[in-house]
Amino acid sequence: MQYWMSANWKMHKTIADAKALAQGLKDQVNANLPDDRIVPLFVPFTALTAVKEILADAPGFRVGAQNFYPEEQGAFTGEISPMMLKDIGIEWALTGHSERRHIFGETDDLIGKKTSYGLNQGLTIVFCIGELIEERKAGRVEEVLTKQLEIGLADVPADKLPNLGVAYEPVWAIGTGEVAGPTEIEHAHALTRCWLGKKYGEAGNAVPILYGGSVKPETTASIIAIENVNGVLVGGASLKADSFSKIVLA
Ligand code: 13P
Repeated sequence: MQYWMSANWKMHKTIADAKALAQGLKDQVNANLPDDRIVPLFVPFTALTAVKEILADAPGFRVGAQNFYPEEQGAFTGEISPMMLKDIGIEWALTGHSERRHIFGETDDLIGKKTSYGLNQGLTIVFCIGELIEERKAGRVEEVLTKQLEIGLADVPADKLPNLGVAYEPVWAIGTGEVAGPTEIEHAHALTRCWLGKKYGEAGNAVPILYGGSVKPETTASIIAIENVNGVLVGGASLKADSFSKIVLA
């Protein structure tokens, strides 16, 4: 299985800054990238085209959007459709990110609709799940992750799995500097792998499960060594070429 060493730039970078970062990553990573790794970058809409152009001759990279709306077109002010993303050559996107869930109030139902719609439109989707600290303290991790998986992937058939990754991002570890411990990561990833196996059988074993939440260059090697961790999704430490290159090559 390939490792997906992914970046989520969130609401950062002007076009000029995005180009400089993409160029820096290409310079540091392209020639050294092992065959079993790819580097999906989820960048702001405004920088997609510029970043895609810079990375056109860097085969290990993928460029994706952080969001889209699950309709082809229509009266959805402020939204972007998968068709519009494909129009500019973008074939990857995130769904279910904790900031979409908790800042923008996206429900499991909407996230499920986005995930199946995006896959049906030919996008490759990194579908994110994760519990809040209160849910963890209340012993509800398994219940919360299972519900997110059940509703989020309700309408995803097995034949779409080659275009799916799942990212486990405990909300309390995002942007806090607090990485989940190896036992916590191993448990959440095992639970996710087991759920995928129950729903999809053998095909569920081929879905990469990424860890996200305060991943840093120093912690990456030990995180990706954990069973069922098939890559990372990095926020803060992906915003500088030096630190993200170290993560990608860790
Ligand atoms: P940080 O790496 O900044 O904790 O962000 C993680 C994240 O939300 C990636 O999607």
